[in-house]
Amino acid sequence: MREVSSAGAVDLSVQIGALRLRNPILAASGTFGYGLEFAHLVDLNRLGGFVTKGLSREPIEGAPPPRLCPTPSGMLNAVGLQNVGVRAFVAEKLPVLRKFDTTVIANVFGYTLEDYVEVIRVLEDAEGLAGYELNISCPNVKKGGMQFGSDPTMVAEVVGAARKAASKRPLWVKLSPLVTDIGLIARSAEEAGADALTVANTYPAMALDHRTGKSCLGNQTGGLSGPAIKPITLKLVWETRKAVKTPIIGLGGTETVEDVLEYLEVGASAVQVGTASFTDPRASQRLAEGLVRVLFELKVFTLSEIRDKFLAEND
Ligand SMILES: Cc1cc2nc3c(=O)[nH]c(=O)nc-3n(C[C@H](O)[C@H](O)[C@H](O)COP(=O)(O)O)c2cc1C
Repeated sequence: MREVSSAGAVDLSVQIGALRLRNPILAASGTFGYGLEFAHLVDLNRLGGFVTKGLSREPIEGAPPPRLCPTPSGMLNAVGLQNVGVRAFVAEKLPVLRKFDTTVIANVFGYTLEDYVEVIRVLEDAEGLAGYELNISCPNVKKGGMQFGSDPTMVAEVVGAARKAASKRPLWVKLSPLVTDIGLIARSAEEAGADALTVANTYPAMALDHRTGKSCLGNQTGGLSGPAIKPITLKLVWETRKAVKTPIIGLGGTETVEDVLEYLEVGASAVQVGTASFTDPRASQRLAEGLVRVLFELKVFTLSEIRDKFLAEND
């Protein structure tokens, strides 16, 4: 997996727990389909990896249109977690994905603990995955619809149950940004066995068409993503870094190499790219290639030279 760039010995490889990635740029869940939709545009083999669309126990049709709506410096989405269901993913998508030399992380969600466990159980028997990412920004239907990710006890329960089910592969936990103290939630996920934390998901938000007084989305509300959220999520990554030792994957509004560097400097080990793939489907590949050039210019030859730079200088 180790890749030394032709630009002159810049080593982009990165270690996330037991998993080695060839570079720190992954495409984010829900913005890169099942990877295959992008294979004619992007050289999947040049990415650090990608995270699949969220997978559930049964197929989900999703929310009514419109599902996307532009907002200043960002985008709202209410896709309603549409997906083919875990069994169809294993039967139809994974066999094709296995032909690529890329790291595939399966994003998993559910509405009960049992849902999460069942999705992982099905994936455990399949070949071609490098790990799981648990989306805990979902309502727990057995706890009155309260988000799994907003309460440390529920986080411990869902991560603990998923950890037991995921005996073969690393488990990443994707945190919700809508929490009072992200450090508390991060520690809970770490203690329950998370191998890495993805920080973070979208921010609940809304936009109206003032002429009709109706939502711009088919749903009343959606999730805000894109450059508008980057400064907020950057702070969450820093706060998470101060709270835990577990590797962090920074996710929110990354569009440029400079954004990637900022995330690494506040303590992320890798970065995911979401909304940027909507304007430029090659965004993740472009960032991985651009990172080599910029690091070479900065005379930085390994990522560990810049990771935590902000922490080191602000102790
Ligand atoms: C259209 C769309 C669909 C998404 N679907 C999922 C999903 O299925 N599971 C998940 O964990 N996150 C999902 N996300 C959240 C992204 O993975 C990411 O956390 C968020 O967009 C912030 O990153 P960005 O600003 O780079 O887009 C989705 C985001 C968008 C825009």
